[in-house]
Amino acid sequence: MRLIHIFGTRPQFIKVAMVARAWQGKSDQIFIHTGQHYDRNLSDIFIEKLDLPQPDINLAIGSASHAIQTSQMMVGIEKAILQYEPDCVFVYGDTNSTLAGALVTTKMKPILVHVEAGLRSFNRSMPEEINRLVTDHVSDFLFCPTPQALTNLKRENIGKWAYVNGDVMADALVYYRDHVLLEEVLEKYQINPQGFCLLTLHRPTNVDSKENLTAIFSTFAKFDHKIIFPMHPRTREMIAQFNLVLPHQIQVIPPVGYLEMLALEKNARCVLTDSGGIQKEAYLMGTPCITLREETEWVETVQSGWNVLVGADGEKIYAAYQSFHPTSARRSIFGDYHAAEKIVTKTLAWMETYGKQ
Ligand code: UD1
Ligand code: UDP
Repeated sequence: MRLIHIFGTRPQFIKVAMVARAWQGKSDQIFIHTGQHYDRNLSDIFIEKLDLPQPDINLAIGSASHAIQTSQMMVGIEKAILQYEPDCVFVYGDTNSTLAGALVTTKMKPILVHVEAGLRSFNRSMPEEINRLVTDHVSDFLFCPTPQALTNLKRENIGKWAYVNGDVMADALVYYRDHVLLEEVLEKYQINPQGFCLLTLHRPTNVDSKENLTAIFSTFAKFDHKIIFPMHPRTREMIAQFNLVLPHQIQVIPPVGYLEMLALEKNARCVLTDSGGIQKEAYLMGTPCITLREETEWVETVQSGWNVLVGADGEKIYAAYQSFHPTSARRSIFGDYHAAEKIVTKTLAWMETYGKQ
């Protein structure tokens, strides 16, 4: 059997690393990097540090409007599928790289497999929500990280070949957390465990809006703790464009590697974020998460009491910083940390039974 993995952004390198490891020795694997992320700190360091094989093809599409970026990826992916003739194509998550892979594959011969299927924010102004909806609806085989994700698919009548198998990012966290060099990270940023907050921001609704960015940053001027801020390049560009000056509490650092990020998340007093992946990781680490969004796909983290949604509302952010200190028990939301192996076993069995039809 031969399969192609399609990926191109920071969180996708992490997901592919786990699934590819589980496929080792069980299938030929071809790796196609769309080039959606290309800065070393958003791409190559992940490939190197997570032991992901070097991509067989890097389409090097880079940044552009949604239509240009997605369509150029599609042209490259179609060529690759014709060249390699895989049995399956795996796409991950909800980015434009996911969408491009799904739209091409569904009109070709290979079976299309979506890892991290069924997530819904129910906010169609998010590009990711459109990518998820389309990808789920055209995929042959859907792997859901949570029961809620499967419920979402069933509600849309597309759950026939969908399975709850746990979350491959939870697998990754458990696999890599022992590799973390905590002392180095604390020393590098001059921080102590519990003595700092960790901030990430990259959603267009926050960073492409001067009003929202201003509301968020002016709140941080009231914080008593240092805020470590690995800044996404999109955010860096918008801060420069809006001419914003950040409060002294914020220590901007370049985007960091995954192991360093895990160390920061684990030791932060709280995480402030609009990232999807980081909400899950904060939960798994037992770090309170203050999510700078109005809604989340990862509703279980909110229901469990470890994540609070505050949007870009300065008062809510500050209130959460002061008083959000969850203590409730954390149940296992994201599976048993063997999601990737289950994906492989299920796909092999499924291909055996139906793949050749
Ligand atoms: C993308 C995904 C988002 C995911 C995020 C993970 C889409 C629509 N968005 O958002 O779902 O959560 O990745 O981090 O697929 N840039 C650089 N260097 C890079 C990459 C980007 O400078 O290596 C800058 C460019 O100015 C670019 C901007 O960041 O225009 C946005 O990049 P893009 O890949 O379009 O979206 P992200 O915000 O990274
Ligand atoms: N991450 C990282 N370094 C950073 C910021 C994030 O390694 O500077 C990791 C983070 O731990 C998580 C993933 O990248 O595993 C989340 O990616 P991101 O927030 O870019 O995207 P999202 O999950 O929102 O799609």
